[in-house]
Amino acid sequence: MSEVILQAQGLSVSYGPIKALRQVSLEVRRGETLAVIGANGAGKTSLMRALSGLLPLAQGQAQFLGAQIARTPTHALAQRGMLHVPEGRGTLQTMPVIENLRLAWEIRPSKEAFEPALAKVYQRFPRLKERSLQAAGNLSGGEQQMLSVARAIINRPQLVLLDEPSMGLSPLFTGEVFKALAELRDEGVSILLVEQNVSRALQLAHRAMVLTHGEFTLEGEASALARDPRVMASYLGKSEAMKTAPGD
Ligand SMILES: Nc1ncnc2c1ncn2[C@@H]1O[C@H](COP(=O)(O)OP(=O)(O)OP(=O)(O)O)[C@@H](O)[C@H]1O
Ligand SMILES: [Mg+2]
Repeated sequence: MSEVILQAQGLSVSYGPIKALRQVSLEVRRGETLAVIGANGAGKTSLMRALSGLLPLAQGQAQFLGAQIARTPTHALAQRGMLHVPEGRGTLQTMPVIENLRLAWEIRPSKEAFEPALAKVYQRFPRLKERSLQAAGNLSGGEQQMLSVARAIINRPQLVLLDEPSMGLSPLFTGEVFKALAELRDEGVSILLVEQNVSRALQLAHRAMVLTHGEFTLEGEASALARDPRVMASYLGKSEAMKTAPGD
């Protein structure tokens, strides 16, 4: 069993009277992809933001590589190798695409040459190469989403937290983003993924957990959850009848 890279125990987050997360615990091992799925408002973004130091914890604690991380600034976590790609893009709007990528690369703890890393990203996302000198804020929504995933790829963190990387993307771009994430996974990067596209998330992940009203209600191997009737009915839009349909 590989080492635990991220762990959290009893995390609770409240917004005034609203309890968004209730005593949530999880762990991610080195090289593991863990998907967190759940309905709108289940607390997924709150979980990601709590883990990456953006929200105060009402209760609980979290460790990255054995060190406490609650309330550690996001940039300090990135320097240690834990990168958060927030919901709704998180690019530097006035900076050109190439500078967004350079900054993501520069924050890495270990230094390698920028140009080859950039070439690799531009090969994966030719659209970003075409837009290299455009301010990120002038890209289309889907292109900005792609840029935020590209920043994670060029950073090559030990652990990346991705909140809805396919949000607002066409099926074609979604496919490209998931191919890129599969490459990251195959390179041994640990991934904590929140994703509405549950079918793709479960294909990518090793393991998955279902968050319901701020609590984990189900967890298991991603392939097993993809066949679980409760997951199929609630998150994959498949009924029991379809599950047993011939050829399914
Ligand atoms: N800043 C805030 N102030 C008050 N309530 C909030 C705030 N942020 C989130 N909430 C509430 O906390 C709950 C969890 O929200 P969160 O954004 O974590 O859900 P989510 O699972 O990421 O949903 P989605 O799938 O829609 O992105 C929701 O009921 C939401 O309305
Ligand atoms: Mg969210």
